[in-house]
Amino acid sequence: MNDHLSQLEPIDVTLQVNGTPVDVSVPAHRTLLDALRDDAGFKGSKKCCADGECGACSVFLDGTLVNSCLVLAVETEGSDVTTIEGLSVDGLSDLQQEFLKAGAVQCGVCIPGQVVAAEDLLRTNPHATATEIRDAMSGNLCRCAGYERIVAAIQAAAETRVTIS
Ligand code: FES
Ligand code: FES
Repeated sequence: MNDHLSQLEPIDVTLQVNGTPVDVSVPAHRTLLDALRDDAGFKGSKKCCADGECGACSVFLDGTLVNSCLVLAVETEGSDVTTIEGLSVDGLSDLQQEFLKAGAVQCGVCIPGQVVAAEDLLRTNPHATATEIRDAMSGNLCRCAGYERIVAAIQAAAETRVTIS
């Protein structure tokens, strides 16, 4: 078989998604985002730009926030992936509830990525100021321009978490 054809042969990849082992068989060029959505059935992560520009596909890969449209699925063998589904195990997470309360969800396409990125921010900087939130969230675009409400939602979640801890 020539090199071109061998690159089209599916490759078996086993990873953990939200704590559960997942086996997919993917061509070498398939992104993690497409593998999650189309092969593994995790549709929460959204595909908008598919070019690393909008953050709609944000997931945790071995604990690090990544744009899953920029990662090849075959690179994730043995990795631990957390998608938006993994952040809402017992119903909506506190962050998701604050997004709803703040009216930050409009068309909703950007929201899974916004919530995953906000979760990353609050884990690393629980006392984030509004300026720090805006800065940290700058890689997550919202076509509905709900930025003020998104920042308010993240601030509210941060205040609640600090109060509880
Ligand atoms: S779809 Fe991945 S960054 Fe836009
Ligand atoms: S809510 Fe529509 S793109 Fe953000």
